[in-house]
Amino acid sequence: MTDRDADKRLAAAAAVDEVCDNMLVGLGTGSTAAHVIALLAERGLTIETVATSRASAALAERLGLKVRPFDAVARVHLAIDGADAIDADLSAVKGAGGAMLREKIVAAAADRMIVIADGSKRVERLHDTKLPIEILPFARAFAVERLSGLFEQLDERTGYLTDNGNIVVDGHGWNDADLPGLAEALAAIPGVVGHGLFLSEIDAAYIADNGVVTRLER
Ligand code: 5RP
Repeated sequence: MTDRDADKRLAAAAAVDEVCDNMLVGLGTGSTAAHVIALLAERGLTIETVATSRASAALAERLGLKVRPFDAVARVHLAIDGADAIDADLSAVKGAGGAMLREKIVAAAADRMIVIADGSKRVERLHDTKLPIEILPFARAFAVERLSGLFEQLDERTGYLTDNGNIVVDGHGWNDADLPGLAEALAAIPGVVGHGLFLSEIDAAYIADNGVVTRLER
């Protein structure tokens, strides 16, 4: 295990310590969230889970966790997920793994959402991180044209569709001076079905850096 991977596992373990029997737990997506899934399976708690991606659902089921289909779930007790970048206000960019739409829905359904990350994800400002945007394929050209006013560069992920059957465009060179304004502008573009800006969803974070875990609380 690399130092970074060990930090991911430490952060994951701190969040898993908040999980109790009888909880419905939202499982995030990505390499850090995979540690959560493994640790939950190891601990043998009496819990149920919902997953934010097919990959996380498959891993959780393979390790013996009970995964409920989210379409019949309105409330989750605790969601635990990774991030690509997180600042001191607990605003974050997510979606390098393309699961940001389901991640945001599960986070919104959760009484509490915890982000877990290694120290490389902690940033002063979010704008250096690519911002993933999920677009209905029907709206590709129209949405990209509208987005071009908000980003210096937009790169569509080639040969990639989300679990929802949509394309992802990564936005580079964006202004983080007004994050709520940017989120509003993105949401106002017809055909943009999701994006990786998380501004109010995150309640706490565990960041592990060289073996030391720091807890941030909103
Ligand atoms: C997937 C995500 C992930 O949580 C994020 O990309 C972090 O991934 P990792 O833990 O592998 O660095 O948002 O859509």
